[in-house]
Amino acid sequence: MAALSSPCIVINDDEQGYDLNLFCIPKHYATDLDRVYIPHGLIMDRTERLAREIMKEMGGDHIVALCVLKGGYKFFADLLDYIKALNRNSDRSIPMTVDFIRLKSYCNDQSTGEIKVIGGDDLCTLTGKNVLIVEDIIDTGKTMQTLLELLKQFNPKMVKVASLLVKRTPRSVGYRPDYVGFEVPDKFVVGYALDYNEYFRDLNVSIGGGQRGAE
Ligand code: HPA
Ligand code: MG
Repeated sequence: MAALSSPCIVINDDEQGYDLNLFCIPKHYATDLDRVYIPHGLIMDRTERLAREIMKEMGGDHIVALCVLKGGYKFFADLLDYIKALNRNSDRSIPMTVDFIRLKSYCNDQSTGEIKVIGGDDLCTLTGKNVLIVEDIIDTGKTMQTLLELLKQFNPKMVKVASLLVKRTPRSVGYRPDYVGFEVPDKFVVGYALDYNEYFRDLNVSIGGGQRGAE
């Protein structure tokens, strides 16, 4: 586990975000969202830098990039695109394979603390490998702690975790991933594959606070 200080962009509690009308928001969501907190371009710029850090620190061996579905798929795809660009354009390159896992820990927007593995490839393939887990959000951290425990049984050589978001919440178990895009206030956030009961994954441009997050 990394030191508590994995550097990231901090979105403060009093961050006002941006008016929805300044962005292209699908009409079907216009009345469900309050503000845009992290524009898509900022996510991409931060992700590019995370790709560089990951390549620097995980270098050498083959990497298995393990996407935590469904919320992680956008970040996973964009992060891997940046890693692939680095592989194409530098003298040193690292072979990478991909793998997918699906866990369920959420009912509506309340963390139940229970995790169900409902999909994914055979985890035996991770034995002896350098594994990069790619996640959308660390909220309480319970899900990731459980996943890391599960992976230990398969003896990977190294496990690092990249999460686009980490929530600042008193419910946190204190887990902090190795690579973090943004630290966000204790509100429910959606968009860029993060959902509320499966909705808002198709909100591509940004991460907006749902109305429920403001309650
Ligand atoms: N948004 C979407 N999914 C989540 C969140 C959130 O704020 N926290 C945990 N899973
Ligand atoms: Mg997730």
